Amino acid sequence: MIFPLGDFHFPDAASRLYPHTAQRPWVLEIGFGDGRFWPHHAADFAEPPNYLGVELSGVSLLKAQRRLKAAGLDNAILTKLPADVLLREVVPHGGLDRIVVNFPDPWPKAGHLDHRLLRAPFFSLAASRLKAGGAVLLTTDHDEYFEFACQAARDSGVMTVDLADPPPAALETKYALKWRDLGLAPQHARFTPTAHPDVPHGDIHPYPEDPAHVPHAILSLPATFTPAAPGQPFEKRTARAGGWTVILLDLYASLRVGGWVALAHVVEGELTQEVLVGITAREDGSHLVRLAKFGGPIITPGVKAAVGAVTDWLEERGGQVTHRGY
Ligand SMILES: C[S@@+](CC[C@H](N)C(=O)[O-])C[C@H]1O[C@@H](n2cnc3c(N)ncnc32)[C@H](O)[C@@H]1O
Repeated sequence: MIFPLGDFHFPDAASRLYPHTAQRPWVLEIGFGDGRFWPHHAADFAEPPNYLGVELSGVSLLKAQRRLKAAGLDNAILTKLPADVLLREVVPHGGLDRIVVNFPDPWPKAGHLDHRLLRAPFFSLAASRLKAGGAVLLTTDHDEYFEFACQAARDSGVMTVDLADPPPAALETKYALKWRDLGLAPQHARFTPTAHPDVPHGDIHPYPEDPAHVPHAILSLPATFTPAAPGQPFEKRTARAGGWTVILLDLYASLRVGGWVALAHVVEGELTQEVLVGITAREDGSHLVRLAKFGGPIITPGVKAAVGAVTDWLEERGGQVTHRGY
């Protein structure tokens, strides 16, 4: 089953995600590629553990979904997100039994080390989301990254590092086979938490059922209001604060309801969202600026700021704001 971010709760629970198998162990695989690991590994269990797979590549997601379906693994959820976002916002404290990382991208250039997944903050986050007795399992052919990850785990102060043989299924992935053909031998480490730090979830919520709780503003626009002079393009603008950047990219006229729709790009750490903010006339002549449900946006400080950015933009064009609900 593929879950977009908007299908999750923040944080979520095994009992909601796997209602029929909630008592089974829960495994997260980060960067599952074309999805070969889990069908191989799950076959080692009489009852396959609950599986959560996270990937950045949409093509990989579809390939993996086909494999899981063919293997009859119906207690498996795949999602296309940065691993950090899933682990921080969706996985509950002490929720997971295993986090598996097979052949992570090594980012070998000196200037790119910040892109590596397995750095000390990752290990603190992982320790907070693992159960007592849980572990992170790393298999990689990249010796330098392997040493880097082991050192990062030690530096986190919350993990012990044990070297071991990889699980056989980790030697059957696409990258395992690729490196085996080149004569490279993988290394394997098991990182076990010695403490479970309280790494908090962020200020992130599903799109509210109640329209009154959707980020919005009400304003009166001047009778002469036009969004731009004829022939003038919408001028892109950027707003930044603490943890977010909002770029208002464009504005479209709505032919159905009258009014406009603004397109905003919102960046908060690893999380990016494209959201639509509607500007529609109300019966009393005022206008409602409101986050649209389209695309399944998640309510975050940055998304609220996108509604604020559209409101500010209208205010600069003569709008009188009477209510801010964001
Ligand atoms: C080298 S491939 C390995 C794929 C697979 N594990 C295998 O062994 O064949 C690394 C994978 O990690 C994914 N990836 C990289 N960074 C990620 C992140 N932050 N969150 C989730 N997936 C990520 C990439 O899209 C890529 O598919």
